[in-house]
Amino acid sequence: MTMKLLSGDPRLVCELALRPLVLVFWSILGTKALDNGLARTPTMGWLHWERFMCNLDCQEEPDACISEQLFMQMADLMVSEGWKDAGYEYLCIDDCWMAPERDSKGRLQADPQRFPSGIQHLANYVHSKGLKLGIYADVGNKTCAGFPGSFGYYDIDAQTFADWGVDLLKFDGCHCDSVTSLADGYKYMSLALNRTGRSIVYSCEWPLYMRPFHKPNYTDIQYYCNYWRNYDDIYDSWESIKNILAWTTDNQKEIVEVAGPGGWNDPDMLVIGNFGLSWDQQVTQMALWAIMAAPLLMSNDLRQISSQAKALLQNEDVIAVNQDPLGKQGYCFRKENKIEVWERPLSNLAWAVAVRNLQEIGGPRSYTIQVASLGQGIACNPGCIITQLLPEKVQLGFYEWTVTLKTRINPSGTVLLRLDYI
Ligand SMILES: *[C@@H]1O[C@H](CO)[C@@H](O)[C@H](O)[C@H]1NC(C)=O
Ligand SMILES: *[C@@H]1O[C@H](CO)[C@@H](O)[C@H](O)[C@H]1NC(C)=O
Ligand SMILES: *[C@@H]1O[C@H](CO)[C@@H](O)[C@H](O)[C@H]1NC(C)=O
Repeated sequence: MTMKLLSGDPRLVCELALRPLVLVFWSILGTKALDNGLARTPTMGWLHWERFMCNLDCQEEPDACISEQLFMQMADLMVSEGWKDAGYEYLCIDDCWMAPERDSKGRLQADPQRFPSGIQHLANYVHSKGLKLGIYADVGNKTCAGFPGSFGYYDIDAQTFADWGVDLLKFDGCHCDSVTSLADGYKYMSLALNRTGRSIVYSCEWPLYMRPFHKPNYTDIQYYCNYWRNYDDIYDSWESIKNILAWTTDNQKEIVEVAGPGGWNDPDMLVIGNFGLSWDQQVTQMALWAIMAAPLLMSNDLRQISSQAKALLQNEDVIAVNQDPLGKQGYCFRKENKIEVWERPLSNLAWAVAVRNLQEIGGPRSYTIQVASLGQGIACNPGCIITQLLPEKVQLGFYEWTVTLKTRINPSGTVLLRLDYI
């Protein structure tokens, strides 16, 4: 067992030029995130979009339309069902909450039928539960669903949200006619939020809308935003999860190094507990979102969720990996025989490792890892305690640097491990 084996093997195709970058840039870049004291670990909460979309029909679907009732019910359940205690704190409204027109003073207003008590009342309610409220607006002339955009109103909108007691803004990028307006708008809104004096987490989609025209400047993005979407909207499907993970590995050299306390890459919502993913695929989403230091924003129906999905989403060991205070995003470092191996450095010299079975035929597959190859060769030197966290918790015990670790992974599933340094 030599270090040469670790770096010279041509099969390690997703092994990165990231290694030198990781070592050189992590400490430097970690300090340039948006300086509002927020999102020091990835934001956790609930966001309505993937599950409830733009459902405006409260006559036909009173329980699924975008209304204050929906958010009040979710707030109640976030507390009574243990979500808040698990760390899910931000209850977030997405598009379609607005009335079609601004008020006479140019302020955004909630749809009067669906939010008869108004957003300030909802914020008070959410705060009374010990939770925080997120809202949605758009940098351009209209939101994606066609409601009033914030272009020309950035200061008014920032102040309106602050006056209402909003704690997070998801700022979308639809209906914006140039990349200059896009970048200027995202920056301006960040400063406008700051000027209100209220602590408001700022969620951007700037790189997602920028990328088709111009390589995103992540130095700028992390300076102005608390987290940012890079890639397409998530769907309730395995295809969608796979595309997000593939995009992330393809672009990790660019995006991994910019993540850190105060600023995170956002691979979009957790769809665990819905309709589209098998159990193993849900495990894969949870494990990889933990490795990627992703915001954990569930989009599901907390009134109807299986106990299995709930236990996965509330798994404290996995959440601890996601929320690790070191705040470094993980990366894929090996891909061979339809297996991907990802790792993430954690505080106290610990590491998380995810082994993904990309094969979607057959049964569980065994995969043997040289312990010495994990954590840049140092995670288990001279030894470590390894715990399997997913798909279920298993204490695997003490491993020396020189031995191998055998895992067994279901098709489209993932085994998530934690390595604690001795
Ligand atoms: C909004 O619309 C106005 C009028 O058409 C246009 O001048 C402006 O550039 C648009 N702004 C954005 C961000 O697209
Ligand atoms: C505004 O920005 C300054 C420095 O850039 C920071 O110290 C302050 O905490 C920010 N305030 C809010 C409310 O985000
Ligand atoms: C990115 O933005 C920063 C800060 O505005 C600037 O200093 C830097 O030159 C930009 N990088 C590129 C490649 O344009």
